[in-house]
Amino acid sequence: MPKASHSAADLIRAARAARRLARADYSGFKVGAALETADGTLVTGCNIENATYGLTMCAERLAMFKALSEGHRRFTRIAIVADTVAPTPPCGPCRQILWEFGGDLEVVLANLRRQTGRYRLHDLLPLPFDRRLV
Ligand code: THU
Repeated sequence: MPKASHSAADLIRAARAARRLARADYSGFKVGAALETADGTLVTGCNIENATYGLTMCAERLAMFKALSEGHRRFTRIAIVADTVAPTPPCGPCRQILWEFGGDLEVVLANLRRQTGRYRLHDLLPLPFDRRLV
């Protein structure tokens, strides 16, 4: 979905639409994500579970891997949507991947009705292990 300058509401709308495609057959917990690239493209993802459980892919990581596989290299924001009253922040592994490939993204959290939080990724992962150390 290429388009210059999105509002946070645009990202949330795209993440909600992606969430509807989630394959959360085991947990029933559907998550959607919309990752904004530096050129204004929105790349979406949803969580995908399967019978092994352990091979589950989170919405945020799928969005980032899709974007990387399509050649995107610079990112600005990610919106994450789940059907929870309290904010649903990205899990630890997703924080690690988002930091490695996206840097200090703005992270917009929302549920099906409203925005529930807004953070910098660095505040969610304050002492990251990354390429500066290896
Ligand atoms: N999930 C995500 O998609 N993103 C997160 O950051 C946390 C968890 C998914 C994984 C699993 O399919 C379901 O939510 C319940 O943990």
